[in-house]
Amino acid sequence: MRHLMSPLDFTTKELDRLFDLANDIERNPGKYAHACDGRILATCFYEPSTRTRLSFESAMTRLGGCIIGFSDAASSSASKGESVSDTIRIISGYADICAMRHPKEGAPMVAAEKSEIPVINAGDGGHQHPTQTLTDLLTIRSMKGKLSGFTIGLCGDLKFGRTVHSLINALVRYSDIRFVFISPEELRVPDYITEMLKAKDIPYEEVIRLEHVMPRLDLLYMTRVQKERFFNEEDYVRLKDFYILNSDKMALAKPDMLVLHPLPRVNEISVEVDSDPRAAYFKQAKYGVYVRMALILTLLEIQVP
Ligand code: CP
Repeated sequence: MRHLMSPLDFTTKELDRLFDLANDIERNPGKYAHACDGRILATCFYEPSTRTRLSFESAMTRLGGCIIGFSDAASSSASKGESVSDTIRIISGYADICAMRHPKEGAPMVAAEKSEIPVINAGDGGHQHPTQTLTDLLTIRSMKGKLSGFTIGLCGDLKFGRTVHSLINALVRYSDIRFVFISPEELRVPDYITEMLKAKDIPYEEVIRLEHVMPRLDLLYMTRVQKERFFNEEDYVRLKDFYILNSDKMALAKPDMLVLHPLPRVNEISVEVDSDPRAAYFKQAKYGVYVRMALILTLLEIQVP
């Protein structure tokens, strides 16, 4: 039995197979419509979500399976003090696979240790968001045809952004990747990441102004300044509109640069950018369903001839 806690749980060869499967599902959805008949996915979300929870539920439904779960810790027995370990023991008797989001870093890992069914980390605190990373990689591979040879700019909250940390960890396994970290001083990427890049001899730079680096980027990964990760409202208000990607800034970018964003967005991408052909974030959210369908099939070891 396999769980998914980090994108590094899969080798790059296994990821290629997963992405090939996701692309086949996109092209031939009917072939997979009954692949999970009789199977149940539990979505245990202790933190709010639109894309991750609903795309998991859509994925299982499109595979013919059923879903159970909760979308709020307050509506589960966590509100009465039940531990994640006890909850997953119970869920193991009710479902065949579980996707769990939790505000505490490492909580899905604790669940996986006690679980009798595969557990998928659907985001744990500021730590990891592996299925978002699978979505990001599938989007890049599908739209660019490769996962190597890019200068990628990551912009916004690089300190608390779990999607950023997961994506960097995943991309360092591909060749000829250069990172440009664009953030205010207070939201710089953590030292453990820059230390890891130095140790692997992977080029990176840290800058504050987006417009200075825009012409050099092949991919721009925008992120939201996350109100829920701040201890003090004053800091959040000061930093929340630090970056706003608009048409003027897009005019500086390469004609084939892609703009990605895990979403939700607040103000960091102006709506006028949505109609730019380089804006890939809504398509990216749709790839999230295909990759989660492929992941469910892979973890349940279901092969569709
Ligand atoms: N990208 C993402 O994780 O979105 P949700 O928080 O809506 O699931």
